[in-house]
Amino acid sequence: MIVDAMRARRSVRRFKADAVPRALVVRVLEAAVTAPSASNKQPWRFFVVETRATIARMADAVREATGRIEATVPEEGRAAFRAYGDYFTRFEGAPCVIVPAFRGHAVLSHLVAATASPEDLAIVAAMERDGALVGASLALMSLLLAAHEAGLGASAMTGPLVAAPAIRAILGVPATFGLVALVPIGFPDEAPAPTDRKPLDNVVRWI
Ligand SMILES: Cc1cc2nc3c(=O)[nH]c(=O)nc-3n(C[C@H](O)[C@H](O)[C@H](O)COP(=O)(O)O)c2cc1C
Repeated sequence: MIVDAMRARRSVRRFKADAVPRALVVRVLEAAVTAPSASNKQPWRFFVVETRATIARMADAVREATGRIEATVPEEGRAAFRAYGDYFTRFEGAPCVIVPAFRGHAVLSHLVAATASPEDLAIVAAMERDGALVGASLALMSLLLAAHEAGLGASAMTGPLVAAPAIRAILGVPATFGLVALVPIGFPDEAPAPTDRKPLDNVVRWI
């Protein structure tokens, strides 16, 4: 059953105008926090944006950052950049945008800071930070599946993070947290066609 839901879930980018009842948002957040995490640190935080004006401000910031960066792309690559960039603001029609964030606890890096070589210290620090991002990403996947089960549409979006500094400022995200993605949710106003997947032979190496 879970696998059926995984197969049926699609990234939804068009939403009805109706607000998502708070109880449903809470339900998907409760599903998100069932995710496993390194040492059960639960490194995630969720910024839930339900105000249209704030969602519009984030979209404006993404447009501004995308345009600024696009202007630096050599002419021959600009159309390709623009085609990607077109997908960076697809969250703006949603009545609710959830922004998962993560905090990498520097527990082990702190323990070895004075003794490990700079290379090992960098590896341990990256391991802790990546571990926190993985935990928050697993929570994001649980959130997407719970939204799907609840009849909501949703999508993970990392493109908008081209405007990460502005989005952090708009939402008041503490400096100790990294942003994972923007996740628009709402009642779907589209039924996207199934997307294909590479055959296992292309992505698995048996050792
Ligand atoms: C990490 C990540 C980042 C993504 N970023 C964006 C994005 O910025 N804009 C967007 O419209 N979709 C984004 N998507 C959705 C993907 O385009 C989508 O998952 C993919 O095309 C497969 O479609 P499906 O989710 O319907 O199976 C992202 C998905 C993931 C997992």
